[in-house]
Amino acid sequence: MEKEKLIEKILELKKKRKAIILAHNYQPPEIQDIADLKGDSLELSLKASQTDAEVIVFCGVFFMGETAKIVSPQKKVLLPVLEVPCEMANMILPEDLLELKEKYPEAPVVTYVNSTAEVKALSDICCTSANAVKVVGTFKEKRIIMLPDMNLAQYTQRFYPDKEIIFGDGFCPFHHILTAKEVLECKKKYPSAVFIAHPECKPEVIDLADYTASTSGMLRLAKELPYKEFIIGTEVGLLYPLAKENPEKKFYHPAPDKMVCPSMKKIGLKELYESLEELKYEVVLPEEIIKKAYRAVKRMLEIV
Ligand code: 13P
Ligand code: SF4
Repeated sequence: MEKEKLIEKILELKKKRKAIILAHNYQPPEIQDIADLKGDSLELSLKASQTDAEVIVFCGVFFMGETAKIVSPQKKVLLPVLEVPCEMANMILPEDLLELKEKYPEAPVVTYVNSTAEVKALSDICCTSANAVKVVGTFKEKRIIMLPDMNLAQYTQRFYPDKEIIFGDGFCPFHHILTAKEVLECKKKYPSAVFIAHPECKPEVIDLADYTASTSGMLRLAKELPYKEFIIGTEVGLLYPLAKENPEKKFYHPAPDKMVCPSMKKIGLKELYESLEELKYEVVLPEEIIKKAYRAVKRMLEIV
């Protein structure tokens, strides 16, 4: 089917199914353009919890679809492609967390939304890259367990010198791969550019950042700051909305070939159309897991 025809069919089906299309900021341009709402993990979880649509089509990775199901269990949540793993989310297993909880029984568990529903169900609260610092700040305890991202945990630790953040060995392969050397080379090439890093980047990269923010935080900074040139330290998909929303500004990337999350590139218009047509692939989670994970996600959404 031609692109225009596919778009027409998607819009027709969306009405028929009373569906809403949510897309993460890293999704391919044609998906971002057709989505009803796009955003970072925090904004999308909030939107999923507030919508009155009957069907939520989530263009993102599996944990985003799961989070939508956790906050809106009565709705049908669809992922247009079945296999959309987040490599970092799969780096922490429920048994690893149980072991840590046994070792540090007094420490609250703050779990990054980039995790499975089973791990969320064992956590006290969730966080995203947009609110991790705020979430940790709500605890009086000196020792906090933060999983699975070691880089987000170490970034958050900078704000709380009096706390001890216990973290595991999880990381995002497509952020962790960025080196200080690559950033410095890019800065040398574009000396007037401001560098914004995602908190999933390594500490040596965060050390070089003028700002550190979630993907939507980066979009806001690019719009609001008076600067004209930016170096962007996150997955390359963000370059599309940055350029679209700021045609008069320039955006550079220090490692565009390496920072590509394959799961975020799997959904196209054809997959979206088929998802709405055949109501696939439905996110299904055990009720008990939904109930327990909801406590952790809801607690996070309440402090936004
Ligand atoms: P954001 O919540 O900042 O959009 O990040 C999600 C993500 O998966 C980053 O790799
Ligand atoms: Fe997961 Fe990294 Fe992909 Fe984000 S970019 S979805 S953290 S693998």
